Amino acid sequence: MRRVLLLFLSGVFAVSMTGGGLDPETEEKVVEIGHKATVSLLKHLLKEVTLSLKEKGPVETISYCSEKAYPITDSISKEFGVRIKRTSFKYRNPKNRPDRYEEEALRYFEGFFKEGKKPPKHYVQKVELGDKLVYRYYFPLKVMKLCLTCHGVPGKDIEEEVYKVIKEKYPEDKATGYKEGDFRGVVRVEIPAEKLR
Ligand code: HEC
Repeated sequence: MRRVLLLFLSGVFAVSMTGGGLDPETEEKVVEIGHKATVSLLKHLLKEVTLSLKEKGPVETISYCSEKAYPITDSISKEFGVRIKRTSFKYRNPKNRPDRYEEEALRYFEGFFKEGKKPPKHYVQKVELGDKLVYRYYFPLKVMKLCLTCHGVPGKDIEEEVYKVIKEKYPEDKATGYKEGDFRGVVRVEIPAEKLR
């Protein structure tokens, strides 16, 4: 398990990125909280998905992804006092569609993947949502072999029976056709400004 997580988190080292005029002290706090919350989420999800794939198979694991992943995300959000979301240009669940700030972060990382360069380990934003000031931390997600079971090429990586269930649940699914190493999307951690004071 630890090896899988290390693999997953590797390939995302390199420079960090400051967005929209954050002072270094604030950025450091945003990155610290964002990274901790992200690692906690990915650890949980990877562990559960790996175990479920092994013990119950891909069809059963789809319901894990659609039903159990949200309560886990919510409880980790609560624990850290943040709001966590996973988002992608090629989303499976329309609920995970990116907003315009998230699109900016996705485009930022996508640029590195398109040029075959190592992506930075995170992207940080200061965003005004109505009268609320929040900070956002983004962590890029890379496709691992394990992910192809449900996000690879239908008929090749995704078994027919599995693809049928995915299509029934998500008729407008965009999240297939990936190869190992592709950019899948981001984990977004939104931190209220009050929390950093
Ligand atoms: C057993 C099938 C399965 C596996 C394996 C799987 N996923 Fe998914 N994934 C799903 C399903 C189903 C959803 C939609 C969940 C929902 O309803 O929000 C999803 C959603 C996502 C999302 C949220 C954005 C969206 O498309 O809605 C991301 C990001 C994601 N997966 C990344 C990954 C990564 C990275 C891996 C490998 C580590 C992976 N997935 C492995 C089935 C799977």
